[in-house]
Amino acid sequence: MKADQPSATAIFVANGVWWVSNHPSLKVEVPALLGELNLQMVEHVNRGVDYRLGRALLQVKVGLMQAVVMRGFYLHFVLRKRSIENYVRQAVQQHAHQLIVIGAGFDTLSLRMAREHPELRIIEIDHPATQAWKRNALEKVIAGHSNVHLLPLDLTQQTLQQLLVSNEHYQPGVNTVFVAEGLTMYLSSKEVREILAFIKETSAPGSRFIFTYMEERRRDDFQFKFASRLVDVWLAMKGEQFTWGLGDGQLEPFLEQSDFHLLHCATHNELREELLSPANRQARLAVGENIAVAQWNQ
Ligand SMILES: C[S@@+](CC[C@H](N)C(=O)[O-])C[C@H]1O[C@@H](n2cnc3c(N)ncnc32)[C@H](O)[C@@H]1O
Repeated sequence: MKADQPSATAIFVANGVWWVSNHPSLKVEVPALLGELNLQMVEHVNRGVDYRLGRALLQVKVGLMQAVVMRGFYLHFVLRKRSIENYVRQAVQQHAHQLIVIGAGFDTLSLRMAREHPELRIIEIDHPATQAWKRNALEKVIAGHSNVHLLPLDLTQQTLQQLLVSNEHYQPGVNTVFVAEGLTMYLSSKEVREILAFIKETSAPGSRFIFTYMEERRRDDFQFKFASRLVDVWLAMKGEQFTWGLGDGQLEPFLEQSDFHLLHCATHNELREELLSPANRQARLAVGENIAVAQWNQ
């Protein structure tokens, strides 16, 4: 990431969700609250979207980006958000008292959950350059939820341990659900293990880590299956290259080494079958980023 600019991929995801919300046949896949909060983010990070011309220009730009890099990208973002929200809701219904969203970007999961669960302690963690933009965009909404706290952290400079252990908003020792959506591909294996270790050290058994990870396409190549080479070029230009993922059959052993048990893993097939409405069942969907739900068992 560039130290002084918000994450380009976080903007890409928010714009992609907005594109789906405006698509004639796909918009039904975007829940109302997700679409509404995301629109506030999109209006903040893109100039002129509150005008008809600005909206039309953004629509063309965002549509072209997807057409060039890979069709089905944006719908994948919407489904991964819905899937993660379902898994978080399940964890909260099954005793999680706290939600920690790491690398939250311009996603609005914490605000959606805060509305539904005012009793839930919620912390969002992100790179300072990205988080500052979000804080400005959603100032009023965030202020309306006293249970949501935004904490800046650059994971390459500081660990979760260093940030949270002495933070007044983090409650150690309770059942907690941690989320990392679209983040682990920017980390190293060691940094992902540090997150697992932190969960074990500071939260109660039964706590969960819900995260997305890239499937290894070829040796040391972590990218969406049918993405054009332009994706890697663009990510390199933005300083957001993918650095980590897991090969076939590696997910469970990776988790077990840290005493985590895999509860669910959703690939594009599950997302399609479980979430897409019948009319869109055949829509094109990106392949290669899966959603894993892991639980720490003592
Ligand atoms: C692809 S975006 C995903 C955003 C959001 N989770 C979503 O899925 O919509 C990647 C996020 O990871 C964050 N990120 C990347 N490197 C980071 C680092 N070293 N420390 C903290 N956050 C980082 C970026 O700021 C950005 O918000």
